[in-house]
Amino acid sequence: MVDDSGRVASDVVHSQVSLHATYGGVVPELASRDHLRAVGPVIREALARAGVALPDIGGVAVTNRPGLVGALLVGVQAAKGLAWAAGKPLVGVDHLMAHLLAVFLRRGEGDVPPPRFPFVCLLASGGHTAIYRVDAPRADAIVELGATRDDAAGEAFDKVAKLLGLGYPGGPTIDRIAPSGDPSRVKLSAPMVSSGSLQMSFSGIKTQVAQLVAREGPIAEGRVADVCAAFQAAVTSSLARRVVAAALREGVADVVLGGGVAANRELRRRTRDLGEAHGLRVLVPPLASCTDNAAMIAYAGALRLSAGAHDDWSLVAESRTSLERATRKGGGKR
Ligand code: KG4
Ligand code: ZN
Repeated sequence: MVDDSGRVASDVVHSQVSLHATYGGVVPELASRDHLRAVGPVIREALARAGVALPDIGGVAVTNRPGLVGALLVGVQAAKGLAWAAGKPLVGVDHLMAHLLAVFLRRGEGDVPPPRFPFVCLLASGGHTAIYRVDAPRADAIVELGATRDDAAGEAFDKVAKLLGLGYPGGPTIDRIAPSGDPSRVKLSAPMVSSGSLQMSFSGIKTQVAQLVAREGPIAEGRVADVCAAFQAAVTSSLARRVVAAALREGVADVVLGGGVAANRELRRRTRDLGEAHGLRVLVPPLASCTDNAAMIAYAGALRLSAGAHDDWSLVAESRTSLERATRKGGGKR
């Protein structure tokens, strides 16, 4: 429940982390079934916490792309039912666009100043990694400047953690362990595509860790911290350098981070340090706005509604983003 100024009245998140931890990653079929079970109670709780009744809402927003179609279908059908029953407009939202605008949410805690348009945003999560220039909160005013050619950054964190026997999701664990390691004790080459390019790649560094594990056998505890430190340094410096280079190339003043990987302390520090050294303002939203959440979908939907747009009952789930892609080759995650 969000108003069109971005004030969050309630934001209920049903996490599937414990479900997927058993398998070391997301199992699509299980994710969809769990959404089916959770969607009704989550909607009721969101209304209750906000103290709002269905007749009082302005519309129903739902993310319909990009993502696993089975999971998206559950949300789209639930939103259609709700909008139909309440006699309210239905509005589909591109999940990536919602991430890019999540920095505008006002939660009353941990909020950062709203960025000024145009700004550059790095979106790095378990499912997506790309850099965008955002000129206005509209799909046709958002340009992808670069993206991963292969794995998403969070996916690399998760796979490396799995190789090191650290469990799922790997990002928070690596973040916690890395500071006690010495990155210079492990040779990993930087995840570069070519210098000057805003394209990124994270599957090579994951393969390097896999080869190291195959070569050295079970990694001793102290060595695990060194590997985490070297991996995290390589990935976060690649991300920080790319997003700062993008802002300088575009001549914008504000840099925004979003997605679950934006929780990473080394990424936040490196981007802040590098950005501020170049006179940029680096804005990192509170964690609840970085990781997947319904408030950002509601806000992006509210903006579409107030611009006079909405969808009809033919709204469908799509696996691909509606945002224009800069690179069609390589098919990386966004
Ligand atoms: O945005 P998100 O909650 O969900 C989607 O994937 O859309 O992002 C989850 C990803 C996972 O890959 C997780 O390992 C990573 O974000 N992550 C982190 C940290 N916290 C979460 N990666 C690095 N450092 C963290 N502190
Ligand atoms: Zn997401």
